[in-house]
Formats: sequence, structure tokens, C-alpha cells
Amino acid sequence: MKFEDIKGFAFDLDGVIADSARLHAKAWHQTADEVHSEWTPELAEALKGVSRMDSLGMILKAGGHENDYTEDEKVALATEKNTKYLKLVESLTPDDVLPGMKAFLDELKASGYKMSVASASKNAPAILKQLKITDYFEGVVDPAKLHAGKPDPEIFSLAAGVMDLAPEVVAGLEDSGAGIKSINAAGELSIGIGNQLMEADVRFADTSEVSLKNIKAKLG
Ligand code: BG6
Ligand code: MG
Repeated sequence: MKFEDIKGFAFDLDGVIADSARLHAKAWHQTADEVHSEWTPELAEALKGVSRMDSLGMILKAGGHENDYTEDEKVALATEKNTKYLKLVESLTPDDVLPGMKAFLDELKASGYKMSVASASKNAPAILKQLKITDYFEGVVDPAKLHAGKPDPEIFSLAAGVMDLAPEVVAGLEDSGAGIKSINAAGELSIGIGNQLMEADVRFADTSEVSLKNIKAKLG
């Protein structure tokens, strides 16, 4: 995709706009300890962008415990994790927008780009509100309505639809491997936050580097 083709940006939230990926990880780490699955950096990375119940499934599987819990017990574990996560989220303020992202949102708004949110999190609207940035976006895709989560393209396809744009003119921003796959499969330009995201069309080491000028420079 050429820089000039881009008309809208679809954003993942946790780890791209909000400094909340570490809070998900902290709460899941406690769940992993509780079910006696080893918490490793690889597991933490693999959970990014994955829905609540699928994340729990991966944590149980990591310890070989996938058959040790009933469906009701799994729902209880996931609910417990979410309660802990929401307790941590209470401390988030507008200062917890990740470095450079408020400036990027302002730049996009001033330049007339459309924006939407493609987060697997059911808590996304609450976090946007807490960070006081809800009004930048045309809308937020409701992950409860998805047939399949990331890496399936559905969420990023819907995020283009929310902006009334074709995927061919949308760039998606993601900090997870599953999310980059979803953007690519949707036929959008993938912008990865994190140098490990080898499948991304464009990569930045961290959010502080994200700007229209730098995206244009990387697209060449
Ligand atoms: C994603 C996070 O944005 O949302 C995952 O990267 C998280 O870590 C997922 O599990 C689901 O979030 P929630 O808030 O609905 O449990
Ligand atoms: Mg993320």
C-alpha cells in the first residue's frame, strides 16, 4: 500500500494506545500460578490479542491442565482474572496513553483520517473512557459479536467497516503476532509495535516512534 492510499487507521488498544498489556499480563500471571502452569515470557507474548476464554485455555494447556477444569470452573477462573484486571485498570489515567500516541491521534484528527478500535477486549470502551479518548474514534468493534478472534481477519475487516472504508485504504496498528496476522489477512497495511513482529509491513520499536512522517518514510 502507498502512503497516499491510507484514509483510516484501525487501532488495537492494549499495548498500542493504552499501557494496559502489562496489567492483563499481571492478572494472568496470578491465574497461571493458581492453576500451576509455568508463566514464561513466551506464554505472555502469545497471550497478547487473544480473547479472555482462549487466553485461559492457553494458560491451562501450558501446564497440561486443559482437562482438569469443568466449563463452569473455567468461567469462574476467567471472571476472577477480569475482576483482578479491572481493579488494576482503576489506576489508569489519561497519562497512561502510551508515549507518543496522544500526539499521533491528534495528528490523524487534524489531517482528516478516520479512526476505529479493533480490540479483543470487552473492556475497551471503559478504558477509552478512562483515558478520555473515546471521541477520536468513529467506533469500536464489539468483540462479543465476532465469529472468530485474531488472527482471523474479521475484527480488522469490521474495523474498516466502522469507518465506512474499504480494507485497501486502511492501516492497522498492533502489538501482537495474532493481530498482525489478522490485519494482513484483512488486506490492510499492518503496522507493528515491537521489532519482533516480523510479519508486519511496517515496524516500530515502540509507540513513541509512530507518526505520519515516520510511516511515510518506512513505506518509501
Ligand atoms: C486483548 C489483550 O486486547 O484483549 C488480551 O491483548 C486480552 O491480553 C484480550 O486477554 C481480552 O480482554 P478482556 O478485557 O475482554 O478480558
Ligand atoms: Mg494489543
